[in-house]
Amino acid sequence: MNTHRSRNNHIPSDTIDEIRTRTNIVEVVSECGVALRPAGRDYKGLCPFHDEKTPSFTVSVEKQMFYCFGCQTGGNVISFIQKHEGKSFRETVEWLADRLNITLPTQDARETAIRKRLTSLEDLNRFAVEYYHRQLLTDRIGTPAMRYLKQRGVQPKTIRHFQLGYAKSGGRDIVKAATDEGFTIQQLIDAGLIKNEDRGPQDRFWHRILFPICNERGAPVAFGGRALSEEHQPKYLNSPATVLYDKSNLLYNLDKARQSIYRQQRVLLVEGYMDALMLHQSGIENVVASSGTSLSENHASLLKRFAPEVVIVYDGDASGFRAAQRGLHRMLAEGLRVRIALLPAGEDPDSFTRQHGASAFTALTDRAINLIEFQIQAAIQRQDIHRVDVKAQIAQEITETLLSLKNRMERSEYVKYAARELHIDERLLWQELRDAGLKDEQTPQRVRQAKRAPQKLSARAQIESQLIEALIQSPALIPSVKSEFHYQNFTEPRFSKIAQLLWEACNDNENVDIQTLINACPDEEVRGFISNALLRRTPPPNLLRARVDGCLNKLKNFLLHDLEQRIRSHALAEGTDEVETLKELVKLSNQRRALTGQPSEKEQVNHGF
Ligand code: UTP
Ligand code: MN
Repeated sequence: MNTHRSRNNHIPSDTIDEIRTRTNIVEVVSECGVALRPAGRDYKGLCPFHDEKTPSFTVSVEKQMFYCFGCQTGGNVISFIQKHEGKSFRETVEWLADRLNITLPTQDARETAIRKRLTSLEDLNRFAVEYYHRQLLTDRIGTPAMRYLKQRGVQPKTIRHFQLGYAKSGGRDIVKAATDEGFTIQQLIDAGLIKNEDRGPQDRFWHRILFPICNERGAPVAFGGRALSEEHQPKYLNSPATVLYDKSNLLYNLDKARQSIYRQQRVLLVEGYMDALMLHQSGIENVVASSGTSLSENHASLLKRFAPEVVIVYDGDASGFRAAQRGLHRMLAEGLRVRIALLPAGEDPDSFTRQHGASAFTALTDRAINLIEFQIQAAIQRQDIHRVDVKAQIAQEITETLLSLKNRMERSEYVKYAARELHIDERLLWQELRDAGLKDEQTPQRVRQAKRAPQKLSARAQIESQLIEALIQSPALIPSVKSEFHYQNFTEPRFSKIAQLLWEACNDNENVDIQTLINACPDEEVRGFISNALLRRTPPPNLLRARVDGCLNKLKNFLLHDLEQRIRSHALAEGTDEVETLKELVKLSNQRRALTGQPSEKEQVNHGF
């Protein structure tokens, strides 16, 4: 099958097979934070892909597959990571290979070159982190920076954990240290560590505390540099965008916080590096910082991968307020639950925690208000909400927020709340929503759920389902069925789709590898069906063969019946020669009987004509 070869992007399928077979899905699922318990020969746990209270997420050791009976998501270890970690197929295979210490062969020279360049930049960044960290810890050189950090209450273990560094007032320190180590000037420029100036290459950072910025895998990709004094501007100097660093794609501290976020199913979003760092120091670990950039769609979907709820804890000033509002709609559109914790004016999470302690901070985030409350509170702060024109304006503002909500229940709660707070009629607000485009109360989520609910299959579709299931369990039977039955003859679209995949996969009469098929299959519903089929107890081969034959006969019977119907209605419509039509019909009917093993109607034919 060509499609998956190109999709795999030159990773040979043997290698993918090796990676898959050497990986234990139970371990990987557990590593990704899903708590599994043995249940018979399988493992069970709460499904990470939908909300549930009783475990219906099943992982089979023997089959190396997972399937959720609640939301019908399923697949192998590769599809699990793709979905759970939001990685592409290639990234997933690379990740698994890395885990097994397998080096992936690459055929594409250009790709190899790019990879090499990225790796060398990663190496360079790693070197820079260590270098600056060592500078900070070196007597005399690091003293002013250490004094500053101490005065701000940063403890040595925090300095180590976040690998804080110090760039002294040299000008060409990193240039020299890195080139001595064999890195080139071009690499230093590419990594954003130095700038090429008239007087030659100069360090970007000097006399600054450095916060290494890591991607979500923990690889350093950039730095944030804090000045030590008011006079030195800007307060923070950050690395420029590089091939490794795109700030619209990165949240500070996500690498260190992800475990904790996943455990707590909630992420705290703060503004500053120092906020994240100091909260971590006081034991609050599920924190990421937006680092002064406005929240992008990428940020929102990044967060969505780890937790369903975000608590925004922005600074208690006007700009913090505005920044919090800007990111809101993006997060709502991702389906995240959003709450906002309000800090006293002039405080940020760092200063607040230092003054009032971690438990006061936690109390504050526990009391975080929902976003409609937040918008109304914000409006109340701005102006007199008892004026009719102001009321109308606020109603319009919150309409926009209510519209971007994905959850219908939530919306209905918020409408009630807003109506109460603003002293307006609830129905008026609903009308406002409908005017703004809300369609008869059906939120997208609802529609999806409705579609996912297991539907009752027709008798014919049930047979189709059995046939497909048997073929998945015993792919060796596919060629013979393929030669007799076109995939378009399945009436249920998803079975037709799976059949097409199966038929195409056995093109050159090679054995169909269901695992490869799952990797290549972009359709979640199809993947779910295949996984479910594989997880079911497989009947012995002779029984499977019999089932396939039986189903095939029944389906052919249905087909002939369709044909009869068509001939009859055609004959009626066109007034065709009756004898010809009847002959045709009898032939079909005989074929049908042959399939079901009943005696032929030959005699009747002879008698009849
Ligand atoms: P803040 O001004 O709130 O800084 O900016 P902070 O994190 O509380 O730092 P301290 O406590 O004063 O040391 C929030 C974030 O905005 C970005 C930084 O990422 C900072 O952490 N920022 C701020 C910049 O990039 N450049 C600046 O000049 C200021
Ligand atoms: Mn601060």
